Amino acid sequence: MLNEIDDSVDFEPEYYNEAYLNRRISARMRRSDTETHAEYLSFLQSNPDEREALMDSLTINVTNFFRNPKMWNALRPVLQELSAENRRIKVWSAPCADGREPYSLAMLALDDPEINARRIEILGTDISDEALEHAREGTYETTRTTNIEEELSLLDNPTKYVTQDDNKFTVTDSVKSMVSFERHDLIADGKKSGFHLAFCRNLLIYIDTEFKLPVFEAVADSLVDGGYLVVGMTETVPPECRDSFDAVNKRCRIYRRVS
Ligand SMILES: C[S@@+](CC[C@H](N)C(=O)[O-])C[C@H]1O[C@@H](n2cnc3c(N)ncnc32)[C@H](O)[C@@H]1O
Repeated sequence: MLNEIDDSVDFEPEYYNEAYLNRRISARMRRSDTETHAEYLSFLQSNPDEREALMDSLTINVTNFFRNPKMWNALRPVLQELSAENRRIKVWSAPCADGREPYSLAMLALDDPEINARRIEILGTDISDEALEHAREGTYETTRTTNIEEELSLLDNPTKYVTQDDNKFTVTDSVKSMVSFERHDLIADGKKSGFHLAFCRNLLIYIDTEFKLPVFEAVADSLVDGGYLVVGMTETVPPECRDSFDAVNKRCRIYRRVS
C-alpha cells in the first residue's frame, strides 16, 4: 500500500514511521468512506483533492504561533544574550511548516525591548512547497480549531505584528522582512552552516528510527560552536549526540552545542 501511495503522491514513505503512516492512511480511508486499500487507492488516483488531503495528513504540518509558550519565554534570555553581541544572529527553523514558528521568533524579538531584533535574520525551511507558499503569504485564519488571536497572546502588543481582516490575520512587513523561506529536505539535503540558534521541533517524533539521527545531525551540525538548539517538547537529543550538548533548560528542550 505504501509503495503504491508513493507513486500517487509526491511523498517518501520510507522516511516515516510505518505505524504512524498506517494510522494516517486508515484515518483518510474512514474520511473518504472507502473500506479496502484497493478501493482507497483507486479513489486516490482519480481524485486530486484526496491526494492533497492525504499529503497534508502524512506530513502533519500542524503548527501554532508560540507553540509551547513556556519554551518561548525561556528563550528570551538566550535571544537577549545572543543579540547583545555586535554581530548578525542567524536562526534556522527546520522544519517551519506554514511559517508560524519562524514568525513567532521574529515577533518575539521585535516585542521584547531587551532583544535587538535588527541583528536577527531567520531562515524557515520545509519539504512541503505548499506549506512554504502559505508561509510566504503570511496569512492565517481563525477557524473552529485554530484561534490565532489566542496563539499571539504571549506578545505584549500583538496588533503591532499582524493586520486583521475579519478572521484573517496577516503578518506585517516588519516581521516578514526578518524571515526568508526555502525548500529543504532534512534527509536528502543534509546540513547547512553558521547558525547561532536552530529549531528542530515536532518532526523527529514521527520520522522512522533509521532517519532520526541523520535529521538531528543535519540541524545540529549546522550550528556554530556554542550555538543553541531547540527540539519539540516530546523530543530529546539522541543518545549518540548527548556529549555534544548541554541542557540550558531541559524542561523546555533548549540545549547548547559544546563540542
Ligand atoms: C508538525 S510540523 C512542525 C512545524 C514546527 N516546527 C512546529 O513544531 O510547530 C512538521 C513539518 O515537517 C515537514 N517535513 C516532513 N518531512 C520533512 C523532511 N524530510 N525535511 C524537511 N521537512 C520535513 C512537514 O512538511 C511539516 O511541515
